Amino acid sequence: MGNIVELMKQEVGKAAALKVQSNSVIGLGTGSTTAFAIEYIGKRLAAGEINNIVGVPTSFQAEVLAKKYGIPLTTLDAVDHIDLAIDGADEVDPQKNLIKGGGAAHTREKVVDSLAKIFIVVVDGNKLVDKLGSSFLLPVEVIPMAVTPVMRQLAQLGGKPELRMGVKKAGPVVTDQGNLVIDVKFDSIDQPAELEKTINNIPGVLENGLFVGVTDIVLVGEIKDGQPVVREF
Ligand code: 5RP
Repeated sequence: MGNIVELMKQEVGKAAALKVQSNSVIGLGTGSTTAFAIEYIGKRLAAGEINNIVGVPTSFQAEVLAKKYGIPLTTLDAVDHIDLAIDGADEVDPQKNLIKGGGAAHTREKVVDSLAKIFIVVVDGNKLVDKLGSSFLLPVEVIPMAVTPVMRQLAQLGGKPELRMGVKKAGPVVTDQGNLVIDVKFDSIDQPAELEKTINNIPGVLENGLFVGVTDIVLVGEIKDGQPVVREF
């Protein structure tokens, strides 16, 4: 099963990389699926299939991968637009709204993905849900001194908040911005646009992982007759 998911991610990352055109500014997302897209963009550049590309990374991970695969980087101070952003997601609903933040990078991802003229989401078929919050907890980035009151207020909104802890690192996960992440279980997210705004209004919250009305294209990797295929919706 693990290998099949990996294969789906690889194919969907490749399909997204094929949408990159010469002379463009590309938002480089975070996560294991986008990592394949970054790799293939780099390979297309090296092969001379495309040229004059600059990337805006959404995380330290994206920055490291872009350097590894030879994609020149820039910042939002140096460009006035992003042509295309490619990023993963943890859940995608039928309206193409998302939960993101599995890699604790959703704050910078939302800045970059929202600025893009075209935002492509790359996922394997397991990420498609009827309703957001069905399987994944909602990540909320919080400044460290506000963690306790923010957790209280998230509980008052009906959520079950828990501080995200590190793996192979003692203590909590610290984001690329030096903040902490609270993962919140909501029984049902019926109105994602409202919840996104309500949570971001809590003092001390930097950003939450609901991406509403941002996605243009979703590329989904699936297995049909034992073969990986990519479909678009
Ligand atoms: C990081 C993200 C990722 O895009 C999301 O977690 C999906 O990652 P993967 O492709 O590894 O499943 O939002 O903050």
